[in-house]
Amino acid sequence: MSDAYRQLVQQISEIGQLESVEAILDWDQETYMPPRGVHARAEQLSLLARLIHDRRSDAVVGDLLGQMNGAGGDPIRETNIRETRRIYDRSVKVPSNLIGRIAKISTHAKSAWGEARRDNKFGHFAPHLKELVELKREVADHIGYEQERYDALLDEFEPGARTADVAVVFSRLRDALRQFVAELRDAPKQPDTSILKRHYPQEKQAEFAHMLVEAIGFSFDKGRIDVSTHPFCSGTSPCDVRLTTRYDEKFFSMAIFGTLHEAGHGLYEQGLGNEHMFTPMGSATSLGIHESQSRLWENIVGRSRAFWEYFYKNAQSMFGPSLADVSLDSFVGAINAVHPSLIRVEADEVTYNLHIILRFELERALLDGRLDVDDIPEAWNAKMEELLGIRPGTDTLGCLQDIHWSMGTFGYFPTYALGNLYASQFYAKAETAIPDLADRIRRGDFATLLDWLRENIHHHGRRYRADKLVEIVTGESLSVEPFLSYLRNKFSPIYGLT
Ligand code: CO
Repeated sequence: MSDAYRQLVQQISEIGQLESVEAILDWDQETYMPPRGVHARAEQLSLLARLIHDRRSDAVVGDLLGQMNGAGGDPIRETNIRETRRIYDRSVKVPSNLIGRIAKISTHAKSAWGEARRDNKFGHFAPHLKELVELKREVADHIGYEQERYDALLDEFEPGARTADVAVVFSRLRDALRQFVAELRDAPKQPDTSILKRHYPQEKQAEFAHMLVEAIGFSFDKGRIDVSTHPFCSGTSPCDVRLTTRYDEKFFSMAIFGTLHEAGHGLYEQGLGNEHMFTPMGSATSLGIHESQSRLWENIVGRSRAFWEYFYKNAQSMFGPSLADVSLDSFVGAINAVHPSLIRVEADEVTYNLHIILRFELERALLDGRLDVDDIPEAWNAKMEELLGIRPGTDTLGCLQDIHWSMGTFGYFPTYALGNLYASQFYAKAETAIPDLADRIRRGDFATLLDWLRENIHHHGRRYRADKLVEIVTGESLSVEPFLSYLRNKFSPIYGLT
C-alpha cells in the first residue's frame, strides 16, 4: 500500500467514524433522549454536520486524491478512491454556507410542516418549501448535471442513476400496476382484513417479531431493536446495527412487517465487510439496493405462503384467540390484501409504487420549474385520482404526509420503488441458484438465502454501482418484468385469478 493511499484511507475512515457518531446521536434522539435534551442535541448535530462537510471537502483529501494514479488493479483500492473522489467532488462544489442555510431552513420547515399537518393548512408550510426548492435548485446547479437538475439530486442517493431512465421504467410500471390493481379489485376472491385488526398485545408482538428476525439471521450480538415513532435502521458498523419499530395493538401488520423490513436493512449492514469498516468498500451501494434487501425480507419472503407455513402455528399459539379461528389461507390473504389507500407508509406492495411515482413526477416538475409550490395540493390530488382512483379529503392525508420535503430531501423517493424492482430481480435469480428455495423457507431454512445474498450483494460493499451490481448478479439491467411476474404469481391464487 502506498503511503498516500494509506493516508487517504485514514482520512476517509475518520469521516466514516464521524458519520457513525452522528448516526448514534440521531438514533438516541429518536429512541431514549428526554424531550428537553433537544437543544443540546441540535448543537451537537450541527457541529458534527459542519465537521463532516469540512472533512469531506478538505484540501488534504483533494491532494491525496491527486496523488492517486490508478489503483493497480486492486478492486478495494479502486472502490475507495473512486467513491472518495465522488463525495469530495460533490462536497467542494457546494459552498458550505449553502449547506448551512439549508440545515437552518429545514429546521424551521420541519416544525412548520408539523403545524401545517396539525391545522391541515398547506399554506403554513408553503413559504418554507419554496425556499428549500430554490436552495436545492442552487445545489443541483453547483453540482452540475447533463440532462436535468433532478439528476444531480437523485445521484446523491442512487449514484449514477439518470432521471430520464428512471422515468421510462416508472412509466411502464405505472401502466402495468394500474391495470393489475383494477384486475384485483374485480377479482372473484377478496381477502378479509378484519382479522388483522383484532387484539395483538404489544409484548407478544415484540416477542414474536424478535423471534422472526432472529430466525432469518439477524444477530442480536451485533444489533438490537428499540421503539421509535418512525421505524428505521441505523448503527455504527456491521457489529452494531440498531433497528427500531413501532406497535399498534389493534393491527397485526405494523410491527411484525415493519420489523422484518428494518431487519432486512440490518442484515445488509451486518453483512458488510468488517475489515472495510468506515470506508466505501464497507458501505452499502445505494439506497435503492438497501431498500431491495428490506423489501425482499419483508414482502417477498415475509409475506409469502411458504414463510407462514413454517411460522403460522407459532403465531397462533402466541396470539391465541385472535388467530385461533383463522385458516392459514385466510391469514396469508389478509396480510397481502391490496387496496388503494391515501398513505404511502400503509400501502400494500402493489399500490406502493404508485405512491412513489406520484412523488417522483411532482419532484421532477418542481425542480425544473414546471410546478409551483402553491399548486402542489391540487397537483397531488389530481395525480392520486389518476393513479389510485382516490382523492385525499385533506392535505394532511395528501401532500403533507411525508417528512422528506421538509428536510430538503428531493431525489430520495424513487429509491423506494427501485428497491422493489431490484428485490424481485435478485430474488428471481436466487430462485434459479437455489432451486428448492421455497421448500427451504417452508422448513425454516433462511440461511441458504442469506448466504446467497451475503455472497452476491452484501459482500461487495460499494464496489459496484447499483445498475452494475444488478447486471453482475442477474445478467440483466434494471427491469420491471420480474416484479410484475412476481406479483402475478403471488396474487393470482390469493384473489382467485386464472
Ligand atoms: Co426501508
